[in-house]
Amino acid sequence: VSVRQATGRDLEPLHELYKEYFRELDTPAYWGLTLEAGLAEVDETVAEGLAFVAEMDSEIVGFALARRRQGTRGLLSDIYVLPKARQQRHATRLTSAAADALHKRGATHLTLSVHVANAPARAAYNRWGFEERALIMDIPTDQLRIRLAARL
Ligand SMILES: CC(C)(COP(=O)(O)OP(=O)(O)OC[C@H]1O[C@@H](n2cnc3c(N)ncnc32)[C@H](O)[C@@H]1OP(=O)(O)O)[C@@H](O)C(=O)NCCC(=O)NCCS
Repeated sequence: VSVRQATGRDLEPLHELYKEYFRELDTPAYWGLTLEAGLAEVDETVAEGLAFVAEMDSEIVGFALARRRQGTRGLLSDIYVLPKARQQRHATRLTSAAADALHKRGATHLTLSVHVANAPARAAYNRWGFEERALIMDIPTDQLRIRLAARL
């Protein structure tokens, strides 16, 4: 079991894993997130040196993608471990590698977003000490317009 920085040679297996991640994440369609855009992000992050892979018996079973944002903010943008390899601390090792890299690049804080219903991910982030700072809310525009109109 090992975690290392991803290189150009990992792009093919990384793309395969990212496809699984994209399917599982199930972001609402209205966000317009396409698989193609996600794969392009993977390539950019690998080129930046902020993509990490977890290997088990020379198979890549998970990845983490990080970004440096403005100020001294680091972003953990994506993390995924294959179902068969979960709860073996791969995500812990991946996040540790990403946090080291972001620290080296001057990030004083790390942020991430997670779906309210994603219990495994929230369990991990809570264990690691992440605090809840923001909440994304949504409503269909038509519904909001009707509700607001009723109040005018
Ligand atoms: C979230 C995810 C990356 C966790 O990966 P993992 O390798 O299983 O995580 P780890 O084994 O490193 O576990 C980290 C901590 O979270 C806890 N945890 C993980 N899965 C859990 C679960 N299903 N229920 C309760 N606790 C859980 C572990 O017990 C561990 O805590 P501990 O070290 O105190 O025991 C993995 O479930 C996944 O890929 N999910 C689908 C993609 C996804 O949701 N990504 C995050 C998007 S924000």
